[in-house]
Amino acid sequence: MIAYSDALEALREHHRQNGQFDLREAFKADPERFATFSASLDDLTLDFSKTAVSEETLQLLGDLADAAGVSERRDAMFAGDPINGTEKRAVLHTALRNSSGPVIHAGHDVMPDVEAVLAAMGAFAEKIRSGELTGATGKRFTDVVNIGIGGSDLGPCMATLALAPYHDGPACHYVSNVDAAHIADTLRKLDPETTLFIVASKTFTTIETMTNAETARQWIIGKLGEAAVGAHFAAVSTALDKVAAFGIDADRVFGFWDWVGGRYSMWSAIGLPIMIAVGPENFRLMLDGAADMDQHFREAPLRQNLPILLGLVGFWHRAICAYPSRAVIPYDQRLARLPAYLQQLDMESNGKRVKLDGSPVVTPTGPIVWGEPGTNGQHAFFQLLHQGTDVIPVEFIVAAQGHEPELKQHHDLLVANCLAQSEALMKGRTLEEAKAQLLSKGMDAAEVEKLAPHRVFPGNRPSITILYRMLDPYALGRLIALYEHRVFVEAALFGINAFDQWGVELGKELATELLPVVEGTKDSSGRDASTAGLVSRVHSLRSK
Ligand code: F6P
Repeated sequence: MIAYSDALEALREHHRQNGQFDLREAFKADPERFATFSASLDDLTLDFSKTAVSEETLQLLGDLADAAGVSERRDAMFAGDPINGTEKRAVLHTALRNSSGPVIHAGHDVMPDVEAVLAAMGAFAEKIRSGELTGATGKRFTDVVNIGIGGSDLGPCMATLALAPYHDGPACHYVSNVDAAHIADTLRKLDPETTLFIVASKTFTTIETMTNAETARQWIIGKLGEAAVGAHFAAVSTALDKVAAFGIDADRVFGFWDWVGGRYSMWSAIGLPIMIAVGPENFRLMLDGAADMDQHFREAPLRQNLPILLGLVGFWHRAICAYPSRAVIPYDQRLARLPAYLQQLDMESNGKRVKLDGSPVVTPTGPIVWGEPGTNGQHAFFQLLHQGTDVIPVEFIVAAQGHEPELKQHHDLLVANCLAQSEALMKGRTLEEAKAQLLSKGMDAAEVEKLAPHRVFPGNRPSITILYRMLDPYALGRLIALYEHRVFVEAALFGINAFDQWGVELGKELATELLPVVEGTKDSSGRDASTAGLVSRVHSLRSK
């Protein structure tokens, strides 16, 4: 097998040789380009034909995947090997959605534990949804507030909005930021008698979550008395001892395991608010969709394997073409939180600078991931995507069908806009075309000369489209698992560990150190002049 360094060099050389690749020419030359450079899993299609890849590019990317051991690493993940080397942990979030046999971790089948927690969550969720479990004063819960941050917030928050058409349980609110504004604005609208809090934290030490949880507890005590706390709190954590110390009854605590990374945890008990919102059956469908993608990822050959293809093209754009960012644009208002979710999934996983063995990486690693729903983005940053000086690959996500058949016109417009944007990025508009258009509108020739350059679109800008029938729980699960595995594939190609996040530690440590300085119980001696100056400014502004 070819060595990694040789495979990488072959890709770089291929890029140098094919720097002039023109998508417009490629489509003209090959009417089958869509069929060749797209792949489907049932109703889910990944179209990467509008990216500058050829058969040879895919062949070379496949060689690199072989050299990087993508398949072996994937199999090691599913087998429960401790592939998160820096934390000596297995990576088994896939077990949380598995329903086809044992999953062995450290010689023990984890499935009975997974199923037991799912059953306990289901029973609890149903009791909240039916009103069997009430608040301390006997009133049915109308509102659930999830207190968590990062992976203990983004997934459930994103999925609850995504599944709004299936939401028939209590309203769900998400409080994450330590900024008092977040919890204050949320609680202002709520009635303590009918509000249930879920404290969601893998470690149960995260300062934002613990601070918000304590504020929520005081809110309940202040309104309903200390004895009411038990009825109004539940918790999700791997640190069951710490939850007990907080005072939440053991029968309202839902556990998960250290082999579930925070940003991969929405499939675990962290998904409890989703389950309360849409019910255990819809939650199971979401898990089934993800499990379907897991099976596909494990079994499909490279040219049909959606996560592998998405990962290969992502690597091509980032590591070989050196595009610094990727925009993810869901043409679905209910996926408004997907870009934020993917920011953690992708950037906390692949924002790394050393390889598995600690040596420096040899390619750029994870891109900046950003986005907003379409069509809104079109009226904000699409100008830069079309005519700015950077090339930013775009990932369009769209359903063929919406949940509002009576408003089909809206969905037709949505889909037309989505397809138009990828077409425009690819085709662009030449100077001649711009001039011809202006002349056809009756503009005089001198004016045309002046204005036409402003109306040129370079085109040849890459985009990927992910299309499926409808955003139901199954489709959502499949979509999220597709992105999880794509991040995995890219990490394997970069040669990095996607499953740790040491980069968040330093800021946390310094915040702990700075808290007494900000509070004014410690002076700022020893701090840099900027930090000390800003603290002093905070103090003087507060005293005004
Ligand atoms: O931001 C760091 C991080 O550890 C994330 O990986 C995690 O999702 C988040 O903090 C929240 O952690 P916890 O669930 O332990 O409160």
